Amino acid sequence: MTGKGKEEVFAGAKDIINQLAVIIRTAAIHDPGNIAVTTAVDKFLALLNPLIASEGELTLELGGEFFYINETRIRYPLEYLPNFDFLVREFKKRGLGSIVFKDVIKAVDMQTFFKAFISSVFSQTPFETFSEDVGNISSLNIGKLRRVKDEAEVGEVDIRREVKKSYFNAVSYTKGVINKIKSGEKVGIKKAKRVVEGMVDLILEQEQLLVGMTAIKDYDEYTYHHSVNVSILSVALGQRLGLSKKVLTEIGLVALFHDIGKIEIPNEILNKPTSFTDDEWSIMKRHPFWGVRAILRQRGFDAMSMRSAIVAFEHHMNFDFSGYPRTRKRFELDFYSKIISLADQYDGMTSSRVYSRIPMSPDRALSLMMERAGKQLDPILFKFFINMIGVFPVGTLVMLDTKELGLVYQSEAMFLDRPKVLVIINGKGEKVDSYIVDLTEKAPGGNFLRTIVKTMDPNKYKINLAEYLL
Ligand SMILES: [Fe+2]
Ligand SMILES: [Fe+2]
Repeated sequence: MTGKGKEEVFAGAKDIINQLAVIIRTAAIHDPGNIAVTTAVDKFLALLNPLIASEGELTLELGGEFFYINETRIRYPLEYLPNFDFLVREFKKRGLGSIVFKDVIKAVDMQTFFKAFISSVFSQTPFETFSEDVGNISSLNIGKLRRVKDEAEVGEVDIRREVKKSYFNAVSYTKGVINKIKSGEKVGIKKAKRVVEGMVDLILEQEQLLVGMTAIKDYDEYTYHHSVNVSILSVALGQRLGLSKKVLTEIGLVALFHDIGKIEIPNEILNKPTSFTDDEWSIMKRHPFWGVRAILRQRGFDAMSMRSAIVAFEHHMNFDFSGYPRTRKRFELDFYSKIISLADQYDGMTSSRVYSRIPMSPDRALSLMMERAGKQLDPILFKFFINMIGVFPVGTLVMLDTKELGLVYQSEAMFLDRPKVLVIINGKGEKVDSYIVDLTEKAPGGNFLRTIVKTMDPNKYKINLAEYLL
């Protein structure tokens, strides 16, 4: 990479993609020559051209549900999600996988490009039509979309979309509430209750998919995703314990606010990429107190607020009271605290809290938790937890006895060691259009067709889970 540093390039990249979506939305309703469109195109080029000039060549690529520029995934804030989602769908409709900008682009060429983009969707063979129409533009090329996984059945796509939507809804709601509390506004829990009820319903029906959403840790805004993930994992665990819907909603709600005390911790500490100093640690360790205080300040004090305050206080104390805050006397930890601290530890370990930190692979996190069971963690609850997450959690990279490499895609409670696996590298070590295999499948002789031999760390292989699992 020449010219600008990597960070700088990618800081602007999200705006380029966002602007691309803006143009396509505008061009779809206006004539391409319309001033609204040409202004938007000019703005787009003002962002894009300097980058092309400094990088020499720029490849914008769609992989799964994400955009990459020169092979780096473009992260974006939640506000951009509707535009990014829209653009992903528009690319897919046309079978468009990449745009390579080979040289600085002229406005007139870009207008031709958008005109072709818009009209190609009406073609029987959209990609081919599009490709032909932009064939004369010498400064850019387009490439066909490579399939990331087998076309799932239509119904499954819809369900996945719904699950994804409600997951992101929950995250964006959580972000709103946390920020309100942070700015000193008082919030009620009515809306929070509705959001959690929605999640509980979805977990009862689609546990695997929603829990699968928590496996994708590559998000920009850790705090909000973490809160939602802990809530989902806690509810899912509660469901395994056979708790009622009412109790599950309570657990989900309480879990959502377990880390609310972190609003008091300065961002420089929260987002610090390197390890904490002793002083910083002692500040971090105060978030349970601050959590209690934040919760007690909210509107209408009831049994739920009490429970939330207790969990905020206890969630790092540990089963054997080896954690924090330290108390003089031991007592029985709240049942919700025990559930939530399991979910919290697991999500914390498998997430990259800050941009640069490499998270732990799910199976590594589970084996670490296994060592803690009976000490820091409630051993019985942990058994239920491992049952829920699976011996091979969604997102685990596994090697099969066929030498194929793949990601655990879905697992069934009945066959914990035989999940469905999305193969991404074939037996010869080649990267392939991925396909799903079911490890419970047997050959006519009665032997299993495939078996997991070992697990591997997806981070080491630079495999982006989000690309495959969303
Ligand atoms: Fe915490
Ligand atoms: Fe937490």
